[in-house]
Amino acid sequence: MLVLGIETTCDETAAAVVERSGDGRGKILSNIVLSQVSEHAAFGGVVPEIAARAHVEVLDRIIAQAMTEAGCGYEEIEGVAAAAGPGLIGGVIVGLTTAKAIALVQGKPLLAINHLEAHALTARLTNATPFPYCLFLASGGHTQIVAVRGVGDYVRLGTTQDDAIGEAFDKTAKLLGLGYPGGPLVEKEAARGNAARFALPRPMQGRKDADFSLSGLKTALRLEAETIAPLSDQDVADLCASFQQAVVDVTFDRLRAGLRIFHARYGAPTALVAAGGVAANQAIRTVLDRLASDAGTTLVVPPAELCTDNGAMIAWAGAERLALGLSDTLDVAPRARWPLDEIAAAQGALRRTAAYK
Ligand code: KG4
Ligand code: ZN
Repeated sequence: MLVLGIETTCDETAAAVVERSGDGRGKILSNIVLSQVSEHAAFGGVVPEIAARAHVEVLDRIIAQAMTEAGCGYEEIEGVAAAAGPGLIGGVIVGLTTAKAIALVQGKPLLAINHLEAHALTARLTNATPFPYCLFLASGGHTQIVAVRGVGDYVRLGTTQDDAIGEAFDKTAKLLGLGYPGGPLVEKEAARGNAARFALPRPMQGRKDADFSLSGLKTALRLEAETIAPLSDQDVADLCASFQQAVVDVTFDRLRAGLRIFHARYGAPTALVAAGGVAANQAIRTVLDRLASDAGTTLVVPPAELCTDNGAMIAWAGAERLALGLSDTLDVAPRARWPLDEIAAAQGALRRTAAYK
């Protein structure tokens, strides 16, 4: 089964064609991603209006490229999937409307995919990971610990009460004048810094639940920086190292709590799966390795280009749903907000479709 997937929820315009074989194995035939980073860099973050316009300008070409590279025509495609949320609504409208047009003209089923569900299912495309597994999703927009029990069966075990981890990295980088996106730049500075120099807080540490809070950490960092300003190069490196260590400690503690909750409710997970741009951070990766081995499970981290936003994960989630006989009607609405646990399996999906009528 071949499915076309479209992703436009943030600052990547992406399209891909993915194959799902009868035994549930996945194969990527094409995966085209155009990042808008350079268009937003001057603003220190993603500007929604600029993002939506940029998607409109390039999406048709990206889709054509994905089809050409996959070497298939629309007659061979069995479904057209697009991220229908959550995300920046202008971009979501562009991608979903385009998918609807293709589905209508080609007479193929439409799959309105939850972007978070696509991240959650990527490990099955890359590693054929069986259910149930524990997902740690950490990107610029999301920080979630999720029990992935089946297609459409997701239970959120923990989330952030304020900033996402990637967002905290980005804001730290902005505060210290490092540029955007901030994660890799903060990591690089941290490598030559002293993590013990600043005593930053570890918010939520020790709590039984698996929630995160990062805004207090960000404020504490700002106060330290203001106290010692003007900052030398070494000050910047030490601030980055202290910040990163605090995030690493908090991630370890919160994810350990999440894995405990998982274990108590569902037994041993088949894997700890990481997704989102933050998983590229080596210090965080080390902690994930340790957590997985402490929990007696394996760590699955899909390759970087599939951990960050891409069309293949949308196509794959579409294929998984289509294989279960699920699809959406052409009047399905784009959603800026769409929590993972509002998606349900077969029954709920039908209810969801009905609700928009
Ligand atoms: O998944 P992603 O590419 O896009 C979405 O946010 O959906 O994640 C990007 C986020 C940014 O906030 C970026 O700063 C962060 O992931 N990030 C990192 C690293 N690489 C990317 N954070 C920490 N360390 C890194 N090496
Ligand atoms: Zn994402």
